[in-house]
This record gives sequence, C-alpha cells and structure tokens, in this order.
Amino acid sequence: MRNISGVDGDSQGSGIMGKKTPRRPLDIIDQQPAASSPAEIAALATCARHGNKPDELLEILHELQEHVGYVPEATLPVIAKALNISRAEVHGVVTFYHDFRREPAGRHVIKICRAEACQSMGTEHLCQHAEQTLGTKLGGTSADGAYTIEAVYCLGNCALSPAILIGDRLFGKVDPIRFDSIVAGLNKEAAE
Ligand code: FES
Repeated sequence: MRNISGVDGDSQGSGIMGKKTPRRPLDIIDQQPAASSPAEIAALATCARHGNKPDELLEILHELQEHVGYVPEATLPVIAKALNISRAEVHGVVTFYHDFRREPAGRHVIKICRAEACQSMGTEHLCQHAEQTLGTKLGGTSADGAYTIEAVYCLGNCALSPAILIGDRLFGKVDPIRFDSIVAGLNKEAAE
C-alpha cells in the first residue's frame, strides 16, 4: 500500500536539504480553498453566496469590504481558488478600483469629492489641506487610526461643493476652515 502519511513520523515535512519532503494527506485530499481567519471564511461565504461565479467578482469584493471593512491580502488567494481564476486577476481588480481598501480603515472615513463641480470650487486645495492636517495621503489612515481619507467622484451634492461625506453625514461648502471644525467636532465626540 502506498504510504501517504509521511515518513519517519514527520508528517509536516521539514524540507531539510537532501531529504524528500513528504506530502501530508490533506495536501492530497483537500482540494477545497483553505480558510483559516474570519476574513477568509467571510470571503468564502461571500463567494458561495454568489455561486462562485467569476463574473461576480466585483460584487463579491464590495460585499466582503462591507463586511470586513477592507479586502485583506490573505483573502485574495481564497477568492481566486473559489472562483477558479488566478490570484493575479483578483489582485488586478482590487488594485485597479480605488474603492477597495487594502488596509483596515480608520474610525472615521472621510470621503472627499474630487469630481468636476467640487474641483471648480477648490477641492484640490481641500484635499491637500486634509492630507497635511491628518498626516496621511488620500487613501491612507492617520497614525492614530482615527481618520481615513478617500477620494470619491460626486456625492450628489454638487450645488454645495466642495462636498465631503463622513459615515452617513454629508457636508457641503467645505473649505479648510470648515474641514478643521468638522474634524474638531469628531475629536470632541470621541473624547466624550
Ligand atoms: S461633484 Fe462633488 S458632489 Fe457632485
């Protein structure tokens, strides 16, 4: 009978040079995507809800981000395997769309509109101010983990541009001074 349980009692396969690394039974038998962290399990469940259909990758990633808060690196191979596509394809989609976060978000996510109407009213200056004030670039999170700033393209508040969205709170006519006062308000709420 063929021995698939390893040799010399080393079922993990140490990979010591000169020795053949035995394969564990699970390597051979288990062809299902491996999921060990809550995020990976959530990724698998999301794929399953979408019937493991590769053409629903965008929806799957959005749902996963909604659930976990971002798209962890460790979930990419799990999703790729579940959808039977390459990891590079999943990675390509996650990095192409700015909507997807690769790191956990801060306690507050500040979305700053950079679309046309807001641009004409000074949103670029506002973005620079936000980056300077919070000490992070667009797409990043402040060192204290309190704020993530992200660019978005139209919040439907063009008449009151520049507009920003924090959680479900929409703010209009946001110049740097108003921005600072909004952030001060959030800091105060957090301290209470
Ligand atoms: S362009 Fe900024 S809200 Fe529409």
